[in-house]
Amino acid sequence: MSEDGSLWITIDDNEAHYLKVLCDEVFGRANFIANAIWQKKYAPQNDAKWLSDSHDHLLIFAKAKTIWRPNLLPRSAEMDSLYKNIDNDQRGLWMSDNMSVKSYSAATDYPITTPSGRIVNPPASRCWAFSKEKLAELVSDNRIWFGAKGDGVPRIKRFLNEVQSGVVSKTIWLRDDVGDNQDAKKEVKKFNEISVFDTPKPERLIQKIFQLATNPNDLVLDSFAGSGTTGAVAQKMGRRWIMIELGEHCHTHIIPRLQKVIDGEDQGGISKAVNWQGGGGFRYYKLAPSLLQQDRWGNWVVNREYNAEMLAEAICKLEGFSYAPSDAHYWQHGFSTETDFIYATTQTLNAEQLQALSDEVGEGRTLLVCCSAFRAPAERFPNLTLKKIPRMVLQKCEWGHDDYSLNVENLPQAKPAVPEAVSAEPPSRKKVAADSISQGGLFDEGEA
Ligand SMILES: C[S@@+](CC[C@H](N)C(=O)[O-])C[C@H]1O[C@@H](n2cnc3c(N)ncnc32)[C@H](O)[C@@H]1O
Repeated sequence: MSEDGSLWITIDDNEAHYLKVLCDEVFGRANFIANAIWQKKYAPQNDAKWLSDSHDHLLIFAKAKTIWRPNLLPRSAEMDSLYKNIDNDQRGLWMSDNMSVKSYSAATDYPITTPSGRIVNPPASRCWAFSKEKLAELVSDNRIWFGAKGDGVPRIKRFLNEVQSGVVSKTIWLRDDVGDNQDAKKEVKKFNEISVFDTPKPERLIQKIFQLATNPNDLVLDSFAGSGTTGAVAQKMGRRWIMIELGEHCHTHIIPRLQKVIDGEDQGGISKAVNWQGGGGFRYYKLAPSLLQQDRWGNWVVNREYNAEMLAEAICKLEGFSYAPSDAHYWQHGFSTETDFIYATTQTLNAEQLQALSDEVGEGRTLLVCCSAFRAPAERFPNLTLKKIPRMVLQKCEWGHDDYSLNVENLPQAKPAVPEAVSAEPPSRKKVAADSISQGGLFDEGEA
């Protein structure tokens, strides 16, 4: 998450309080912003055994609360309709506001004479918001309203063109403003009538979150995409997005929905409000299975689901090579420079095979060989670097987490593993991983 990023989670009453504590642990209590309430249902459930729940929670955390600030929400036409211009003021529409304040000061507790000659004092235990001098200035600038007959309690005129361009969000989000579960289901029905997703969110709810927490072109992540509301709303609002979904509804809901959004065919949800005409595009990736698995003895081996091409491509990615299998040379699966190549194989390579490989690579070229195991001293082949796949993959895994995911985007540089049998040379890519010359198999040992 970026330094000025924030996390927004909708969650029901059963889990909200546990999740709050969990997020406190991750973000620090100091970065808690608010627990907003979303009115998800309108009709009471009269068959509810205890209470009829009509809201979900919206937990909001910032990466750094000291720097994170929400945007203001756009002013609604309803808010602006409160502004009138009953005295034809040249400055345009205005509304009047109370001029007395609670925080008492004797200096601003004084009688005011209205244009009609009536004497008005502030209400009991309150005082005026302005000093006598300031009030005189405001009166001469026609900024104090004494009512149409000049006889009323003075009020300050607030001009529409002087109020801030937006409003601060409150923590209660009503269905009239952001939609409810029923609205969300109607939105889903527009692109999948047969199977309405169980727990979609209304587009207006996500829109409000984006209005508060993002700006055009920002990147939003929804790792529980569901029916794809986040991506649909982000697309319509000009935000970039990434969604993750493990369910099959990725195909039945998310992809069809986003296609309709891109085509401009989706005119539901917030489309009309933002004048959505379509545009943009998206890419869709299916995650590969885990590259490594433990065999029955607990040794890490390459997952048997991987075929030769998948393995070569994965290893290229992990080692920072461009995957480009050559038709001319079986050992060229990818390259890092014009003269540096990579070869990934499930075989165990013996001295004879390695010598043949080294001869073919020749002088002036180098080859990283990722194999099951090798049975020759690595230093014998100056143009080859030998690595055993499970070990090199394990070095790049983020162990110690619950998910054991590979950090393929920002791979750490693996430290060269220099075995005792090999003299410690400078860690060039050429001679980094000479492994034991007696090693286990790449796939499950008992079945290889
Ligand atoms: C409550 S739904 C999200 C609804 C979504 N906001 C919408 O508007 O449709 C949660 C989704 O998270 C998915 N999910 C749960 N665990 C996941 C995981 N570990 N990785 C990816 N998706 C997951 C579920 O399959 C489900 O579709």
